[in-house]
Amino acid sequence: MIAEKFEQVFGRRPDGVWRAPGRVNLIGEHTDYNDGLVLPIALPQQIVVAGAARPDGRLRFASTQGGDVIEADLAALTPGSVPDWAAYPAGAAWILRESGYDVSGAELLVDSDLPTGAGLSSSAALLCASAIALLGLRGIEVAPDEVARLVQKAENNYVGAPVGLMDQMASMCCTKGHALYFDIQEMSLAQIPFDPAADGLRLLVVDVKAPHRHVDGEYAERRRSCETAAAQLGVPVLRAISVDGLDDALARLDDEVVRRRVRHVVTEVARVEQAVELMRAGRLRDVGPLFTASHVSMRDDFEITVPELDVAVDTALAAGALGARMTGGGFGGCIIALVEASATESVLAAIEKAFADHGFTPPSPISADPSAGASRIS
Ligand code: GLA
Repeated sequence: MIAEKFEQVFGRRPDGVWRAPGRVNLIGEHTDYNDGLVLPIALPQQIVVAGAARPDGRLRFASTQGGDVIEADLAALTPGSVPDWAAYPAGAAWILRESGYDVSGAELLVDSDLPTGAGLSSSAALLCASAIALLGLRGIEVAPDEVARLVQKAENNYVGAPVGLMDQMASMCCTKGHALYFDIQEMSLAQIPFDPAADGLRLLVVDVKAPHRHVDGEYAERRRSCETAAAQLGVPVLRAISVDGLDDALARLDDEVVRRRVRHVVTEVARVEQAVELMRAGRLRDVGPLFTASHVSMRDDFEITVPELDVAVDTALAAGALGARMTGGGFGGCIIALVEASATESVLAAIEKAFADHGFTPPSPISADPSAGASRIS
């Protein structure tokens, strides 16, 4: 399908097709840029990029969703030089060239079934899919975690979003049927089997359709607070503070808001560790309360929820969910809820009703089978 569309747009067949998935994080929010722990799964929904090399250094980007073909010169790319959605494939080309990879000009056609603005990491997926397409067109092999690190730099320095490394690692390194336990400080990965159906459970993911409010500014502000707190505490990053040392650390901070930010990060890292221990022990049901504690921490201490997220979580819990939390950067996006499989419909119906009662935009459930990380399709 995408090959035919590619031919319509660019007048020739693509040399190859690549894919990179979105992600949902099970637990561990705003911990990645503090060198903490995260536990994402990759989604079945993904970005697909068809590509063909060009010998003349010209880059031409198009989307199956329409709009003009956007053009740029590989050699002339500088941060911010390509606007809108094409900044992501351009950023991927920029970082690869900056890092010394011998990528060429290319035509890239982007297709997606990943909702944008839903906190499912469509940006990271677009960067990852574009990078592996540009590398694949030249037959250059780069390890998946290295691609993730490269495109994070592109997102930070080309697009200008100060994000951590979770989303790119999830898109590149997740495997089917597993959650990715990623320790950013150690740069170590473990694949944790995650199959709620085997326990009679289901992971619900619901897009609350809240308009993202001040996302970029608020995200950067949270990140700065964490850096300020670490500097005041005399540690390189907040990961250096353990739960046991939390009270001492809090006593040394005089700003009440900063104290709450630190409490979120430190307790959230501990919750990821506990969740993984429980999952490894086959006690998935017991992970539910950790989800809920994570949400409360993000609502009260990190202050990144919005009414739609809180209503969805509260309603899911009242309707019998074992645990629920917002997932992703916050200020909109999705919630996840761990429910008995038999309660799936009633929990979803309760959330829909609560949203109607509050006059919110109807929420939208998203299927979330833990899926494989990025790969070449053809
Ligand atoms: C966004 C960022 C990630 C991470 C999450 C919050 O998704 O891209 O790096 O910080 O927010 O956990």
